[in-house]
Amino acid sequence: MEGVTDWVMRDLLTSIGGIDHCVTEFLRVTERLHPYSVFEKNCPELKTGSRTRAGTPVFVQLLGGQAGPLAENAARAAEMGALGIDLNFGCPAKTVNRHDGGATLLKHTDRIYNIVKTVRAAVPKDTPVTAKIRLGFDNPESCLENAKAIEEAGATWLTVHCRTKTDGYKPPAFWEWIPRIQEKTSIRLITNGEIWTVDDFNKCAAIAKTHDYMIGRGAIRNPFIFSEIKAAADNPVKPEKPPVGLILHFFDASSVYVNDHFAVARTKGWIKQLSFTHADLKPIFDEIKVLKKPSEFKARLEYHFS
Ligand SMILES: Cc1cc2nc3c(=O)[nH]c(=O)nc-3n(C[C@H](O)[C@H](O)[C@H](O)COP(=O)(O)O)c2cc1C
Repeated sequence: MEGVTDWVMRDLLTSIGGIDHCVTEFLRVTERLHPYSVFEKNCPELKTGSRTRAGTPVFVQLLGGQAGPLAENAARAAEMGALGIDLNFGCPAKTVNRHDGGATLLKHTDRIYNIVKTVRAAVPKDTPVTAKIRLGFDNPESCLENAKAIEEAGATWLTVHCRTKTDGYKPPAFWEWIPRIQEKTSIRLITNGEIWTVDDFNKCAAIAKTHDYMIGRGAIRNPFIFSEIKAAADNPVKPEKPPVGLILHFFDASSVYVNDHFAVARTKGWIKQLSFTHADLKPIFDEIKVLKKPSEFKARLEYHFS
């Protein structure tokens, strides 16, 4: 997730466990071929075999509307060792859509086909090219033909965020579209949207019946959700304690990764999300959210979380 799951967060979440696979924040592609440094920034894991330190594979996600430049950039990512390229056709952001990328492409099945096909042809055969869509721009039916096109263009798997662009992030997610897509295609599908708890996961799995699931925001609010889901088959566990020990680690790692001010902003963001799962963090969030000076901020983190 752009602005959220950077290297530090991917490293932290995958070190907790339960995650089989990660995707980078999207990298916007317009006309030019990004320099190597841009890929290194988007995906520092390229230097460690395109895996997090816990060994979880990371795919580089590209977002754009032009097949040629996307293919060129995908080829560069593959040359740098990316274990796979994921193409984002789901981003609803106005700036992205205005510049002909993300969910706006869901209205143009032929363009999606052409992009996936061109990118597929540009990277080595053993490098998977995968895609992510929403159900449609405003019409959910369009997922059927978009998924078919993505399969025919040679994608290895397809993640479906089960809402249209017009739905935004408003619950519910319409998981019931997944079996309908699967009826029409044999591409491996990954179900995404509104999985916040083990209970949500069970409800989603009963409807979608896919082998794989993607969790976005739920992972930030409860970093243990993946392990809980894996462990929960027989014996559901509730997150009783917030991951306080990890918060200081996250602050320090983000300081090293970018700088102290970045670390303050990211850590505030994470504590805010955690407080939705752990209400006892809410007063702490209210106290620290106004702190701007990194030294002051860190001192309060130490006070609360050491
Ligand atoms: C702040 C934010 C940034 C996001 N950035 C990306 C992104 O870079 N690439 C992507 O494929 N999806 C991105 N998404 C969408 C999520 O990956 C996911 O599809 C969506 O939030 C629905 O899943 P969830 O209900 O599990 O969060 C983003 C979502 C949010 C809220």
